[in-house]
Amino acid sequence: MALKLIKDGNQISSQEPEFSELNKFCEENVIDLTFEWIAGQFWLHSDLPKEKPIGIEIDRELSRHEDYLKKSSVHKELLAKSIGVKGAHRPQVLDLTAGMLGDSLLMLAFGCEVWATERHPVIRFLIQSALKNAQHPKLQNFHFEATSAQQILEHGPKTEVIYFDPMFEDANDKASPRKEMRIFRNLVGSDQDAIAVFETALNRKAKRLVVKRPRHSANLSQAPSVQYIGKSTRYDVYFSV
Ligand SMILES: C[S@@+](CC[C@H](N)C(=O)[O-])C[C@H]1O[C@@H](n2cnc3c(N)ncnc32)[C@H](O)[C@@H]1O
Repeated sequence: MALKLIKDGNQISSQEPEFSELNKFCEENVIDLTFEWIAGQFWLHSDLPKEKPIGIEIDRELSRHEDYLKKSSVHKELLAKSIGVKGAHRPQVLDLTAGMLGDSLLMLAFGCEVWATERHPVIRFLIQSALKNAQHPKLQNFHFEATSAQQILEHGPKTEVIYFDPMFEDANDKASPRKEMRIFRNLVGSDQDAIAVFETALNRKAKRLVVKRPRHSANLSQAPSVQYIGKSTRYDVYFSV
């Protein structure tokens, strides 16, 4: 099984050290993955031939959020409420589950300083490639570490907020039709250690631990102090006691 890298329509060598984690992942999981260099960064080819490759457009996403927040108050956003954005206050956040950076970039756009981590080699690679290609000034407030939640909880900064969005299914979860979610489910699977990570994060006693869940799913472990409920998503907030 193999890792294939494409640049300008040609296959390039995947033997450089920066690709070693990806090679190992392909071999260990008996999987073929193709990444293509487009507009200054690597994108992952979808498992379905007609779909566009998957990547993170950091500058574009941040600008899109900023434009939106010029028209609509940050204080109306459920994510902002859940992490404790109030008045001019912008908390520092430790995002344990960076994924495709959706939530990290939104919190950066709110004006928060964000530390984020991701353990999956494919997702890490997409993040790191996208970061090298990004220049948005808000990235001065973004710190990415390619490690695990457990490691960053042990050694990382003590932030006011810990944010956790695991791939954790229960009987009430509906299959998501979104392309990104399908790829995530195929590649990353379910985060079986989510409850253990939650317990470790809770013991860290940040002012708030925020857990993102599908709206109708069960609590990850114990009942939260407060919930912010959206159309499809829910933020469970655990205040430190
Ligand atoms: C649901 S996705 C997060 C999506 C992200 N919030 C976003 O907006 O794009 C969960 C991600 O967290 C990562 N993850 C899960 N458990 C982790 C852990 N213990 N340490 C580091 N990363 C973890 C998974 O590999 C996956 O990429």
